[in-house]
Amino acid sequence: MYTSISDGIEGAPDGGDARERAFDERLDRALKIEPPDWMPDAYRKTLTRQISQHAHSEIVGMLPEGNWITRAPSLQRKVILLAKVQDEAGHGLYLYGAAESLGTSRDELVLALLSGKAKYSSIFNYPTLTWADVGAIGWLVDGAAIINQIPITRCSYGPYARAMVRICKEESFHQRQGFDIMWTLAHGTAEQHAMAQDALDRWWWPSVMMFGPPDSESTHNVQSLRWKIKLFTNDELRTKFIDQTVPQAEQLGLAIPDPDLRWNDETKHYDIGPIDWDEFYRVIGGNGPCNKDRLQARVDAWEDGAWVREAAAEHARKHGSDAA
Ligand code: 3HC
Repeated sequence: MYTSISDGIEGAPDGGDARERAFDERLDRALKIEPPDWMPDAYRKTLTRQISQHAHSEIVGMLPEGNWITRAPSLQRKVILLAKVQDEAGHGLYLYGAAESLGTSRDELVLALLSGKAKYSSIFNYPTLTWADVGAIGWLVDGAAIINQIPITRCSYGPYARAMVRICKEESFHQRQGFDIMWTLAHGTAEQHAMAQDALDRWWWPSVMMFGPPDSESTHNVQSLRWKIKLFTNDELRTKFIDQTVPQAEQLGLAIPDPDLRWNDETKHYDIGPIDWDEFYRVIGGNGPCNKDRLQARVDAWEDGAWVREAAAEHARKHGSDAA
């Protein structure tokens, strides 16, 4: 039987400390924190921040790939891409639902994105110039997302962990279809191989940056690890992604655009060249190649959809929100 952290503590003389202790004990026993539970304000705040930005990333992430739905090279590729982009919308709604369970309304979360206050993943501020970019996004970006998201299925906040289970299953299909596009191109004509290599050249470093700043510059790593929101650091997941992806590039017959990349037999990981953190901070600061277009597209969608929200609210007011 589930008992909330707050059961039996409310009003106790040292209710505050007892609740903090009960919260910490729950984390130590790897039990989930659920919406009705007492939680430190800072835990609630950083979860709302991370989950809502994750949701924003899913929704904004639909734009670069959506750009190729009408230009997919075959009906089969079009159908697969349509399904993938639709999945991303669903992931966004799942994650907004998890964020709302912490007490912030959907409108507040979305308006934080539209005002530029809230972030979304840096990776979606790059343009999709050729069809190979759709393959590179599936293979690299969704591949990176899987590495970042699987630990979140074991994070301390129940709704977030549970949302991640289904999302990770769908991401596996996303990564597979992306690799399949890259395989087809890399083993196609010389022009197609060159297109795949060009996409890898442009998407490799932004994908490596997706995992966040180096641990030495991460604002939230330490606390998020203590609260089991994160189970690994940014650099640990980045290394896992590189170790997994370099052999895949070799399978494709494509070259990773890093002259310093080499296997380190001591650490059993790849050593890589310097990451351009100036570019990373420029992009997350709103000055990437597509930031303005991406945000304007979301502002336009919000404004164009106002009548739908008003009609639904009016219908719910007149007929009660449970009306079909
Ligand atoms: N893009 C944009 N901002 C980033 C970023 C990135 N790639 N990496 C870090 N940041 C921001 C953080 O949000 C934080 O800013 P804030 O305080 O204003 O929120 C700041 O940089 C410092 O970074 P930290 O490492 O301290 O921040 P976190 O502890 O939050 O770690 C994270 C960053 C690893 C992205 C973490 O938030 C996380 O794991 N989020 C959940 C996963 C997620 O959001 N993935 C985004 C991609 S979703 C996706 O790819 C969908 C797929 O279907 C394609």
